[in-house]
Amino acid sequence: MGKELRVSKIGNGTVVDHITAGRALYVLKILGITGREGRIVAIVMNVESRKIGKKDIVKVEGLRLRKEQVDKIALIAPHSTINIIEQFEVIEKYRVKVPKVLEGLIKCINPSCITNQPREPIKPVFTLYNENPLIFKCKYCGAKVEQEEIIRQLIGE
Ligand code: CTP
Ligand code: ZN
Repeated sequence: MGKELRVSKIGNGTVVDHITAGRALYVLKILGITGREGRIVAIVMNVESRKIGKKDIVKVEGLRLRKEQVDKIALIAPHSTINIIEQFEVIEKYRVKVPKVLEGLIKCINPSCITNQPREPIKPVFTLYNENPLIFKCKYCGAKVEQEEIIRQLIGE
């Protein structure tokens, strides 16, 4: 106590807490936040956490997350907790959950996979193959996609 970094509480909105250290900017990207929206945003990176060593935190005033955004955060930072704030109180708190199935969220890395054929568009589907390290497997060709590649695709780099 006393040595903790204090960041203002928010009144209404969402706090994404326990983000894997160093990944706060990925979370902002998922939320589509550029800073030009005029919302209050607080970003804390690489602070000590009793639970997970170091962590990042993202607080956004006046924002509720869509399910797809929560799923994407789970893929990038699987220990994150989502706190919904109303009138300065945490009214709901839950941990993100890595989806068992990904539909249309990422593309298959195998160029000859049926989901990559231009003629018949088939929506890519992946099933969770391993949780730690995170690996998904293509339903159609069996190609394995690792977390690093998933992050690359979600962030668009
Ligand atoms: N928070 C905030 N504004 C509020 C209320 C909470 O920014 N009006 C933030 C806190 O700073 C914290 C997170 O939301 O980062 C969760 O708040 P709380 O549940 O009060 O904290 P902890 O008990 O430490 O959470 P946990 O048990 O999930 O670690
Ligand atoms: Zn495939």
